[in-house]
Amino acid sequence: MVAPILELKNVNKSFGPIEVLIDISLQVKAGEVLCLLGDNGAGKSTLIKIMSGVYIPTTGEILMDGNPVFLGSPRQASERGIATVHQFGGTFPLMSIGRGFFVGVEPTKGWGPFKVYDRKKANEIAVKAVRDFGITRIDDGDRLVGGLSGGERQSLAIARAVHFGARVLILDEPTAALGVKQASHVLRIVNEAKRRGLAVVFITHQVMHAMAVGDHFAVIIRGAIAADFKKGERTREEITDLMAGGETMAALEAEISANAIL
Ligand SMILES: Nc1ncnc2c1ncn2[C@@H]1O[C@H](COP(=O)(O)OP(=O)(O)OP(=O)(O)O)[C@@H](O)[C@H]1O
Ligand SMILES: [Mg+2]
Repeated sequence: MVAPILELKNVNKSFGPIEVLIDISLQVKAGEVLCLLGDNGAGKSTLIKIMSGVYIPTTGEILMDGNPVFLGSPRQASERGIATVHQFGGTFPLMSIGRGFFVGVEPTKGWGPFKVYDRKKANEIAVKAVRDFGITRIDDGDRLVGGLSGGERQSLAIARAVHFGARVLILDEPTAALGVKQASHVLRIVNEAKRRGLAVVFITHQVMHAMAVGDHFAVIIRGAIAADFKKGERTREEITDLMAGGETMAALEAEISANAIL
């Protein structure tokens, strides 16, 4: 049995007296997509902040490849191969694709040419990395990141993480602000990252997007895992119900059937 790349064991997180996460245990393996579902304020972002070194759990353990690790900062997480892609794909709208691709990557060991920024080389590498992910509409590394569509920006951020050796890819609502076509583009790229053996943690409100890529699902309600299941074990309606805590949808259905009788 191969140990999961990333595992959380009995993780709790409190801010003062407020318990935001309660006894969270989950794992994600190489070549797998774990979807975290849950309503607003459920604790999803707090959970990924724990996975990416922004917050330290109050109690509980984080393991990588079966060994306990301490993720004391985003830098420590990223050095261990955990890459987090935030909504809108990062924050360098005024940079060129080539520049943005290499931002924050220290020009040490093996990055000789980048000690003096080599624009042509950087553009070549960046454009190739995104094209390898099937985004063939990007062919000029001098274009500004801000001029790309939302989906292209997300895709660029994912390609960048993979290029620099990420093993765990955390995506916080990457498709939330996208139209149907752009979202399906990002979902395709998530599948490609998975095919390349990354462990992907995918946060979304949209059940359809989760179902399109997920192997494992965890529904978080008020800081705790309310349901945990594999692909194919639940229908779309069941997942939607779970996310709403069962109550809202049942009430809505009752209302609809009451109206139908009238
Ligand atoms: N630093 C903090 N101090 C106190 N409470 C916090 C802190 N950060 C988050 N919370 C609370 O924890 C709960 C979970 O927040 P979180 O941002 O993780 O939710 P979420 O599932 O990502 O929601 P959304 O879908 O709206 O993004 C919320 O009630 C929030 O107010
Ligand atoms: Mg959030």
